Amino acid sequence: MNPSPLNQPSSPPDAALPVGMFDSGVGGFTVLRELKKVLPNERVIYFGDTANIPYGDRPPQLIRLWAKNAIHFLCENGVKSIAIACNISSSVLTPKDLENVPVPVFGLVYNGAAAALQATKNGRIGVIATTATVETNSYANIINSFNPSVEVIQSACPKLVPFTEQGVFEGDEVESAVREYAAPLKEKDVDTVIYGCTHYPLLEKSIKHHLDGVRLIDPAVEIVEELAAYLHNNNLLYSGEPRDYAIYASDLNEHFFATAERFLNLDIRPFAREVKLNRPE
Ligand code: DGL
Repeated sequence: MNPSPLNQPSSPPDAALPVGMFDSGVGGFTVLRELKKVLPNERVIYFGDTANIPYGDRPPQLIRLWAKNAIHFLCENGVKSIAIACNISSSVLTPKDLENVPVPVFGLVYNGAAAALQATKNGRIGVIATTATVETNSYANIINSFNPSVEVIQSACPKLVPFTEQGVFEGDEVESAVREYAAPLKEKDVDTVIYGCTHYPLLEKSIKHHLDGVRLIDPAVEIVEELAAYLHNNNLLYSGEPRDYAIYASDLNEHFFATAERFLNLDIRPFAREVKLNRPE
């Protein structure tokens, strides 16, 4: 892999600084979980914009503003790189938005699209994502820029983020929603499906069941691989101890703590803080 950030970082980062990540809420925990696995020593600052969830139902310009605020917040706190752990933020941020970000920024969409292109055998790729991500057409645009003959079938899944933010990961309601969202993809006989929202791997059990036989691509794996390769190539891996995390949310709630415990195996209460980011445009 030849890791290439989405921007041209201006200042040489310091290996001892943490990696920054952000999402609208608990979805980015699926990226953090992967990072913990691959780079267990890294320090991390995480921001979840839980007061503004779900991003996927909002206009792109507003999501862009919130994503820029999150990047600014992470930079102010001192990070050596940023992983955008949110597909819709990855989809709406422009190269110009990242121009003045001093540290390397990595996104999900390019990585996920590339992995799906490698995986598909029949040239039919499905994308499950929030309504806003589907509307940007970001995955289809990248996939078709590499191979215009690949058919990309997108399925917007607006009920899934609210389930996961409320700590609902199984049950009849989840099953019936996932069945509904999987149907158009199965009808088109896709052989590969991209998790186009970082919240969805939290519903993996149900999604795997309803998309049985389909190759599922989690861009979290790819973004962490790219980040790890970049840190390694630039002598930026942190090897000190102890690893530490700072977790911020714009609305710290019980579900946020419980989801971290369940999926990260981490009691984040001692180092979680609430913060509101109200930077004007
Ligand atoms: N987790 C985010 C993503 O990957 C979006 C969730 C939301 O709608 O807030 O796009």
